[in-house]
Amino acid sequence: MLVFTKKHAKIQQEMERFAREEVAPFVEKMEEGVFPRPLIEKMSKQGFMGIPFNKRYGGLGLDFISYILAIHEISKKSAALGVILSVHTSVCTNPILTFGTEKQRELYGKRLASGDILGAFALTETGAGSDAGSLKTKAEKDGDVYILNGAKQFITNGGEADIYLVFARTNKGITAFIVDKKTVGLKVGKDEKKMGLHGSRTTSLYFENMKVHKDNRLGDEGEGFKIAMSNLNIGRIGIAAQALGIAEASLEEALLFMKRGKKSLLPLANMATRIEGAKLLTYQAAFLKQKRKPCRKEASMAKLFAARTAVYVTSGVLDCLAEYRGLPNHHAERFFRDAKVCEIYEGTSEIQKIVISRSL
Ligand code: CAA
Repeated sequence: MLVFTKKHAKIQQEMERFAREEVAPFVEKMEEGVFPRPLIEKMSKQGFMGIPFNKRYGGLGLDFISYILAIHEISKKSAALGVILSVHTSVCTNPILTFGTEKQRELYGKRLASGDILGAFALTETGAGSDAGSLKTKAEKDGDVYILNGAKQFITNGGEADIYLVFARTNKGITAFIVDKKTVGLKVGKDEKKMGLHGSRTTSLYFENMKVHKDNRLGDEGEGFKIAMSNLNIGRIGIAAQALGIAEASLEEALLFMKRGKKSLLPLANMATRIEGAKLLTYQAAFLKQKRKPCRKEASMAKLFAARTAVYVTSGVLDCLAEYRGLPNHHAERFFRDAKVCEIYEGTSEIQKIVISRSL
């Protein structure tokens, strides 16, 4: 890729090695539903839970492309770990370090970036998924605290996270709050049984008269929607990288078996071409973000195209490998199950089309 430097090649190699040596052996456990806590601990030790953040705030001090490379490489072995990292970094740590007060950065941002604690992002509600602005969770001011009542749905890292970035409605509009998992009145719902990403957690959250101190409000009252939206751009580039990782790993597996079986590789030509297109869009969006240039449209295009590519490739690969089922190390079926959600979360494909069309 044209945008890569020698430093990027180095981090790519490092992430590829980590994924091969540490993540791959843990995949079977994750498929059984085990949350990859030991992997997160190892990633924290190496600084991978805060790749694009300043060293001053516990980060690794690398650039945004390095972070996207990490999600890309990790997702080749485990898309579940890819989304855990993406949500933690893009939509929890990043907004706290970007919009937080110095105290919030020190208290929460630093510990998130260093991987001491895990983060989650709580925006989606029943009836307010795609139309995020219609969320109903309420936050009423009462002296120095806000009292939150409501519920969230499909929260990645739910029940495992130490910190939730919660969006609720105040008199002045949607507002963001940093909520510690130990806060009285916070209840975690059951773990969703999902089609894919078995190693990641997805739960509901319930807030019953949950008191959050005003010091834990992120940004001003009414600024929450903008905070959520601007971070979703970053999140969408992360999910594009995750989809790309799934698609590439699936194609690599097809290549391995088909070459061994001396099959024609013609059915893989379209897949390889689409993957290349998805890669260009993903790293173009990452490059713009890194240069602090607007990337709303490009992030949505990357997410839309890479997610579709992952579904197209993993489905096509299943067709190609149908006769090889039952062989050891056959991951094609998992890749197929993991791919679909890339078209759903972090804004469905229809939402990406809305974002893109509005910018034309
Ligand atoms: N980046 C920056 N700002 C944005 C933005 C973006 N991508 N999208 C909207 N905004 C800003 C707009 O510019 C606008 O600002 P002004 O008022 O200054 O003009 C403001 O936000 C409101 O925007 P809209 O008028 O476009 O709002 P809308 O209500 O019509 O719809 C939407 C916006 C694009 C449909 C939005 O609701 C949306 O993105 N929905 C999808 C929600 C989503 O992606 N959820 C993901 C949940 S997290 C997740 O999935 C994590 C995981 O588990 C993997």
